Amino acid sequence: MSQDYIQFISRINRKLGIDLSLYKEAQMKRRITSLRNKRGYQDFVTYYRALEESETLLEEFTKRLTINVSEFYRNPKRWNALEKDIIPLLTKKKNKLTVWSAACSTGEEPYSIAMLLTELFPEVQATIIATDIDEFVLKQAKQGVYPEQSLKNLSTNFKDKFFTYKNKLYHINNSVKNQVTFKKHNLLADTYPENVDLLICRNVLIYFTDQAKDNIYQKFSSSLNEQGILFVGSTEQIFNSERYNLKLVDTFFYQKN
Ligand SMILES: C[S@@+](CC[C@H](N)C(=O)[O-])C[C@H]1O[C@@H](n2cnc3c(N)ncnc32)[C@H](O)[C@@H]1O
Repeated sequence: MSQDYIQFISRINRKLGIDLSLYKEAQMKRRITSLRNKRGYQDFVTYYRALEESETLLEEFTKRLTINVSEFYRNPKRWNALEKDIIPLLTKKKNKLTVWSAACSTGEEPYSIAMLLTELFPEVQATIIATDIDEFVLKQAKQGVYPEQSLKNLSTNFKDKFFTYKNKLYHINNSVKNQVTFKKHNLLADTYPENVDLLICRNVLIYFTDQAKDNIYQKFSSSLNEQGILFVGSTEQIFNSERYNLKLVDTFFYQKN
């Protein structure tokens, strides 16, 4: 790693609490360098100075780092498996569930689970915690306003029941909103919630180094209750999942032993 990039990373860590050395280097450096060049800064020293001075540049930078793309029922087949097999498995012996949607971005994922449970498992009492490192996306998540595109995997029934369409945007109803508690949380640094029955963490671990991932899987395993389920993204299968006491029970679903 070049000296100026190392220094940049350590300043960003101090400023934003995001340790970029735990993200895959080539990919991250390429993203940051292209944004830096686009804004006309030749090196990381001047770019950092600019970030210190401009809230707008900092927000843009944070966005670039965190990659916030999401949608409701992302990879619908997996959500169908969640409805058909996984929730029934989890609720065989109890009807209270603690769900943690980690790296939830703008809220589509925790709201999807809230809608799913309300519609199909009304007897289940769920506590849904949703976290992300990025305060900007959490603010949007709490507003719960989405373009049509984000809802493309949802049935008309869900759209009609859980959203209000206003000025070409879909506003999630308070009945869904009130079921989710959003919090800022850094997967690489903060303490993890405990006694989780369903942990949804998708499309973020791909950005981390193998060492960081290993550490996170250990902590996920500790967060989960026995028989609890970890739901990962569609490019994120866990190799040697037994190392973390996790057993594959369905594609992209792991159960703690
Ligand atoms: C591509 S989005 C995934 C959103 C959602 N889980 C999904 O699959 O649709 C990745 C999210 O990870 C968050 N993120 C990145 N680094 C993180 C970290 N260290 N701790 C917590 N969240 C992080 C980003 O802010 C971003 O919102």
